[in-house]
Amino acid sequence: MSRVFDALQKTGGGGTLPPTASPAEFVDALDKGFRLDALASVHAQLGPESRIVFHRDPSGPNAERYRLLRLRLNAVRAEAEIKTLLITSPGPQEGKSNLSLNLAAAMAEKKKQAVLLLEADLRRPSLSRELGLKLPSGLTQCTRSDVGLQSAIYKVEPFGFYFLPVGKALANPAELLNSDWFSEALAKLADSFDWVIIDSPPAIPVVDAISLNRRADASLVVARAGRTQQSSISDTIQLLGQDHVLGIVLNAVEKFGRDYHGYYEHHGDGTSPHSRKAK
Ligand SMILES: Nc1ncnc2c1ncn2[C@@H]1O[C@H](COP(=O)(O)OP(=O)(O)OP(=O)(O)O)[C@@H](O)[C@H]1O
Ligand SMILES: [Mg+2]
Repeated sequence: MSRVFDALQKTGGGGTLPPTASPAEFVDALDKGFRLDALASVHAQLGPESRIVFHRDPSGPNAERYRLLRLRLNAVRAEAEIKTLLITSPGPQEGKSNLSLNLAAAMAEKKKQAVLLLEADLRRPSLSRELGLKLPSGLTQCTRSDVGLQSAIYKVEPFGFYFLPVGKALANPAELLNSDWFSEALAKLADSFDWVIIDSPPAIPVVDAISLNRRADASLVVARAGRTQQSSISDTIQLLGQDHVLGIVLNAVEKFGRDYHGYYEHHGDGTSPHSRKAK
């Protein structure tokens, strides 16, 4: 299992953010507006080994832990204006995408909440694969064409969350991530959805997550048990800005020392992001 700790040892100091890049000249295709009920639906193609516990074992303990995280995030939101939530971690392969998928599924269980899973690891997208989907377009195709964002957002059944995939991966996404276009796109998405869960790349090796962090309302940091160094967590919190981080999700805690399946069964819950004041 994993637990979400109250956020963290404070490391002092604010974030060290990169300088703003010069604005990119993207065609503005955002003024078209869209209705959620007009978005295309797709059905996730998932096998029994899917990482989405809401597919594999929706009434099991891991799904419950995601529901607990949902509860706590909704409680935080009662005090603070949070819609866009960045999921990041210090390094690669620590469970960011896993958390993003399951949190989106957990949040979408509450039918009243319109939840968007925004794939923002523009260099190495993985969520379409995890969902077993081959989608024709994504975020990166919306920037320079007259295609509105709505054409790249899909409602994913049976979970009911919405998904905006990357589309064509980019070797250098800095221009897009630092553009006014992206800022406006995110604002528009935040207007249209109750929650926008942003699956991001790792925070330390590349600057992308820091760019995304500047645009998100708050962040959750994933740490993987037995892998993530405590010093990397502190460094990440410092990079993101400690007031911006709601908490840490500790992933893949091997509690009972069982086989891989058991190990996997006991991952990724969440809990206890500390509340923060409205920005
Ligand atoms: N709790 C867990 N138990 C076992 N395996 C896990 C667990 N969480 C994630 N994994 C596995 O670890 C790998 C990385 O997970 P995931 O893709 O969610 O991490 P990530 O932080 O998004 O990686 P990246 O930095 O490459 O985007 C995947 O193969 C996934 O199946
Ligand atoms: Mg990932």
